[in-house]
Amino acid sequence: MSRIDALLGAMTLTEKLGQLTMTAAGSAVTGPFIAGDSTDAIRAGSIGNLLNLMGAEPVRELQRIAVEESRLGIPLLIALDVIHGYRTLFPVPLAETALFDPEVWERTAREAAREASAEGIAMTFAPMLDVARDPRWGRGVEGFGEDPWVGGCLARAKVRGYQGSDLSAADALAAVAKHYGAYGAVTAGREYAAVDVSERALREVHLPPFEAAVTAGVSSVMPAFTDLAGIPMTAHAGLLREWLRGRLGFDGVIVSDYNAIGELIAHGVASDRAQAAALALRAGVDIDMMADAYRYGLPEALQRGLVSAALIDEAVRRVLRLKERLGLFEDPYRRGTSPESSTAMAERRRFARAVGARAIVMLKNAGDALPLADSLRRLLVVGPLADAAAEMRGPWHAAASADGCVSVLAGLRAALPQMRIEHALGVDIDVEDTSAIATALRRCRQSDAVVLCLGEASLMSGEAASRASLDLPGRQRTLTESICKHARSCGKPVIAVLFSGRPLAVPWLIEQADAVLAAWFLGAEAGHAIADVITGKVSPSGRTPVSWPRAVGQVPIFFGQRPSGRPADPANRYSSRYLDVANDPLFAFGHGLSYGRFKLSSLRVTPESLGADETLAIQVDVLNEGRRAAQETVFLFTHRPLASVTRPLLELKGFAKIELRPGESATVTLQLPATELRYLGPDLQPVLEAGAVEILVGPCADRAQLLQKTVQVRASGASRLPPPS
Ligand code: NOJ
Repeated sequence: MSRIDALLGAMTLTEKLGQLTMTAAGSAVTGPFIAGDSTDAIRAGSIGNLLNLMGAEPVRELQRIAVEESRLGIPLLIALDVIHGYRTLFPVPLAETALFDPEVWERTAREAAREASAEGIAMTFAPMLDVARDPRWGRGVEGFGEDPWVGGCLARAKVRGYQGSDLSAADALAAVAKHYGAYGAVTAGREYAAVDVSERALREVHLPPFEAAVTAGVSSVMPAFTDLAGIPMTAHAGLLREWLRGRLGFDGVIVSDYNAIGELIAHGVASDRAQAAALALRAGVDIDMMADAYRYGLPEALQRGLVSAALIDEAVRRVLRLKERLGLFEDPYRRGTSPESSTAMAERRRFARAVGARAIVMLKNAGDALPLADSLRRLLVVGPLADAAAEMRGPWHAAASADGCVSVLAGLRAALPQMRIEHALGVDIDVEDTSAIATALRRCRQSDAVVLCLGEASLMSGEAASRASLDLPGRQRTLTESICKHARSCGKPVIAVLFSGRPLAVPWLIEQADAVLAAWFLGAEAGHAIADVITGKVSPSGRTPVSWPRAVGQVPIFFGQRPSGRPADPANRYSSRYLDVANDPLFAFGHGLSYGRFKLSSLRVTPESLGADETLAIQVDVLNEGRRAAQETVFLFTHRPLASVTRPLLELKGFAKIELRPGESATVTLQLPATELRYLGPDLQPVLEAGAVEILVGPCADRAQLLQKTVQVRASGASRLPPPS
C-alpha cells in the first residue's frame, strides 16, 4: 500500500480537513510566530499548512511539532508570498519583465527559491499570471504587463526557476500560478471588483499564461478572488474542474486565495460556511486559505449531503501528494537546515544590482542629458523618493529589511565620490505641504544638474491599491515645475527618476524633464542600479512591458486591440477616436532608449508561403550607429489582415536581444512555427486559416517603427487543428 493510501486509511475527518487547511502564522520578523490556538491545532492535526511564517527557527519548531507531536506526523506545507526575492529583493515583476530576458526571469526565481528554502519555506504564491491592461489596477506591479504571449514566456521561466528540475530538492519551492483567471479585468480597474469578459477574451488573453504554467509543470494554482460573469472563481467548477483539471490535465493542488471561500457568502452565492465550503470543494479547490470554512464547514456539508467523503479524500490525496513530491515525508527539515554562505549572498546582491540596472526603462533622453557629463561638479538629488530606501522594496517584500536597500542618494554618493552631492526633500509623496520647495530650489541654484526622484509610494500599487488617477500624487508636480523652470533658465539638466508600480500618465513630466527613467521598484540594489545608469556604467536596456497612457481616460490601453470598422481618422468625425486626446499611448509597449542608437534594416522572411508544419525564419540586420555599446531588443509581431474573425492589430510572437559595440552590426534571427499562427475561429476552435500574414519586426509596438513583409499561409479549412489536449 502506498504511503498516501495508508495515511488516508488512518486519518480521521478532522485530520483530513487539517490537510485542507492553511492558516497564517506570525513571523520572527513581525512578532509572535504563531497565532491563536494554531500550535495546539497543529498537534491535533487540524492545521496542516501554514502561510506567512518566516525565520528558520520558528519554521523548524512548528515543523517539529507537526512531525513529532501530531498523531500521524504529517509534515506541514509552509508557504509565503516570495514574489521577487525573500531577503534579497530583485526588481518587482513588472520591472523585471522589462528585461525581456527569460534567463534572468528564471534566475531571479531560482535565487529567491534558494534564499526562501534556506529558511524552510516550501511553497511560494508566485508567479502572478494576470494580464494587466488597466493601470488603475494596482496589482499589475506583480505581473508581466499587458501581453499574454509575454505572460506565457514568463510563466515557463518562473516555474522552472522556483521549482527547479526536482521539486524534492532542498532548494526547490512549489510555485503557485495565480490568480486564475481574468483577475486583471476587474471592473474599472478597481481591486476585487466583478469581472465579465467574453469567452474569446478569456481563451485568447487571460488563460494562455496559465496554460503555459500548467504545461511547464506548475504544482499549484490559486483562483482569483473575483467572479467571472457571475460565478466566483473560487466556486467555478467549469474553469477549475472542467477546464484546468479536465482539459489542461492539471493534477496539482488548487489553493484558495486568502479567505476567498468565506467570501462566497459576500458574493451572494452561499448562505453559510458549509455551503461555501461545499461549493469550493466541488469546484476543485483543495486548500482553504484562511477562511476555516473547510475545517468548520465541511463536516456539516457532509451531513447535509452537499459533498461526499470521496470528494474530501480526493483533495487530501492531492495535498499529500504535493508534500510527497516536495520530499517532506522523507525529510521534513531538508529545507531550512543549511544556512547560505556569505559568498552566495554577496553574489546574489551583485546579480540584483545588474538586473536592477537592466530593468530601468529610459523613456526620454533629450540632448543626451544622460549619462551625466564628467565635467559636472555639484549635483542635487531631490524629491520624496531620493532618500527612501524602504520604498525601493515595492509592495511585496517578504523578509527583506528596509535598511537592506540602497536609496538613490546613497547609490549616487557611492558612485560619484568626487562630486558634491546635496539632498533636498522638496515635497512628501502625497501631502499638500509645499514649504520645503524653497530649500530645494535654493540647493538647485547651487548645483550643476538635478536628479529628481518622484513617484508613487510603494504601497500605492500591489494588492488593494487601485488608483483612479494615474498622475503623481501630492504636490510633486509643483516641485517639478519649480525645479524645471529654474533649471531651464540656466541650462541645467534635470533627470527625473520615476518610481511606480504601474505606467503613470504624466505627459507634463515627460515634456519638462530632460531625461526620464522609469525605475519602477528595483529592490535591494535600487540606488546602485540607478547610479549605474545615470553615470553611464550601464547603458539602459529595459523596454516597457505596458503601454504608457497619455491620459487615464485611455485605459484599458494595450497594443493588441482589434480593428474598428471606422479606424481613427482626424478628418472624419465619425471615426474611432477621442475628441480631446490621441488614441495612441505616449510610449508604446516595448519603448525604451539606450546609450546606443540602433537601426534595423533588410527584413527577410522565408519561406514566402508556409504550410501547416513549417516554420518561418525571420531575419533582420541591426546596426548600432551610436557612440556607445548598448543592447537592442527586437520584437516580432504578426497581423492577419483577413480572417474569419477580427484579429488584433498586432500580436506579439517573439523577441530577441542583441548587444552591439559602436558601429557594429549583426543579424537577428527569429523562428515562427505555423502553429503560432493559429487562432480561435468563429466557433472558438483553434484554426490555421489560409491567407496573408503580415510579419512586423522592430523596436516596439508602434507600427510606424516596424519593418514589414507579408507571407501566405497555405492552408485551408481542412487544416483545422485539434484543440490542445
Ligand atoms: C491575497 C493575495 O491576493 C494573494 O496573491 C496572496 O498570495 C495571498 N493574499 C497570500 O498572501
